[in-house]
Amino acid sequence: MQLFVAATIAISACLPGALSLDVSGSTKFQSSSKRGLIYISSSEHPSDSQIWVEAGSDLTWYYNYGSTPTDAYSNRSQANFKFIPMLWGSSNSSSFASGVKSLIQDQGRNITHVLTFNEPDGSTPTGGSDIDPATAASIWIDDVEPLSELGVKLGAPAVTGSNSGMTWWSEFFGNCSLLKTNCTPDFIPIHWYGDFAGLASHIGQVVEAYPNTSIWVTEYALQDASLSDSQSFFQTSAEYFDRIDYIERYSYFGSFRSSVSNIGPNAAMLTQDGKLTDIGSWYLGGAATGNVPSSSNSSDSSSSSDSSSILWGGRRHSVKAVTAATALAVFVFAF
Ligand SMILES: *[C@@H]1O[C@H](CO)[C@@H](O)[C@H](O)[C@H]1NC(C)=O
Ligand SMILES: *[C@@H]1O[C@H](CO)[C@@H](O)[C@H](O)[C@H]1NC(C)=O
Ligand SMILES: *[C@@H]1O[C@H](CO)[C@@H](O)[C@H](O)[C@H]1NC(C)=O
Ligand SMILES: *[C@@H]1O[C@H](CO)[C@@H](O)[C@H](O)[C@H]1NC(C)=O
Ligand SMILES: *[C@@H]1O[C@H](CO)[C@@H](O)[C@H](O)[C@H]1NC(C)=O
Ligand SMILES: *[C@@H]1O[C@H](CO)[C@@H](O)[C@H](O)[C@H]1NC(C)=O
Repeated sequence: MQLFVAATIAISACLPGALSLDVSGSTKFQSSSKRGLIYISSSEHPSDSQIWVEAGSDLTWYYNYGSTPTDAYSNRSQANFKFIPMLWGSSNSSSFASGVKSLIQDQGRNITHVLTFNEPDGSTPTGGSDIDPATAASIWIDDVEPLSELGVKLGAPAVTGSNSGMTWWSEFFGNCSLLKTNCTPDFIPIHWYGDFAGLASHIGQVVEAYPNTSIWVTEYALQDASLSDSQSFFQTSAEYFDRIDYIERYSYFGSFRSSVSNIGPNAAMLTQDGKLTDIGSWYLGGAATGNVPSSSNSSDSSSSSDSSSILWGGRRHSVKAVTAATALAVFVFAF
């Protein structure tokens, strides 16, 4: 119940306070150490990867859907920019535990957390890892749970934001019990594509089902919306995540150019020319840039195809329409 009270306060008290004046007089977005990067490679624009780690960036951690650090960040220390390995799907499992152990023991990388199973309730063509809960439970027991002995904190499977995700979790934990093992995640990742009311309601639903667990929001955005709605969504949700203690980390799905965005140009953190948009700059703790994202490519960009857009385009797919029932749940919490 305590948790619902906190959620209510966050929903009813929107902004201001999120923006503050810095010494030079420009209005910076509130700073936060919870923010991380969803690293999406761009073979066409490899230098885009450096934007997120420039001096002053708020970002403290990243994941790349895989189990080994991204080349562009391989010389960054864990203390400076924490790599969080992910066990993406069932076919990636055999070497996962040994790979993470090797990062820690052979490479001296202080791996503190891992993420598991990207959208296992989603089908492969839509970017899900499509694993049945029984298989996932046995993989978890063999290849994930042992990592806790090394002090690594475990992320629950990162299901989609739809009802199929809630069902998948319940069957997953049911199968762990059947196998007479407790699967013990230390935190629960959430994916959400939709508006803020739906996002807050979904978090409430997860916290109600799994009390006392920390939440990481590891993919979220308002897709295909106007620029002003995308910006308000970004500000309201960041302010909410920063305020709620049990939301430990979050990573916005938008670290790509607007011209290759599969969730609409206005959600992107980079313009078609690779400059930070307002949202992109706010996410790093900076001031609005006034750079307006467009779905068209810039005139000077090469026309060769960028394979990276295919890569990440396939990975993201958890669009959830906000139903009347979830919207209603917000008001139930609030009154
Ligand atoms: C995981 O396995 C799938 C299927 O074999 C493969 O396509 C994908 O690249 C792997 N992902 C990682 C991050 O290793
Ligand atoms: C890592 O390497 C890049 C170039 O490859 C360099 O620009 C950067 O300063 C290096 N960072 C650290 C922390 O050594
Ligand atoms: C690893 O990182 C954690 C969290 O930042 C820190 O508490 C711990 O002391 C670090 N361990 C080592 C061996 O550096
Ligand atoms: C175990 O998972 C399967 C699907 O893989 C599901 O049909 C079954 O209901 C689950 N068992 C429990 C006890 O949740
Ligand atoms: C929540 O965690 C606290 C501290 O770890 C514990 O005392 C309490 O019993 C837990 N509550 C539930 C419902 O698990
Ligand atoms: C922009 O270029 C990228 C690759 O360079 C391509 O994938 C994308 O479809 C282009 N977008 C438009 C709107 O032409």
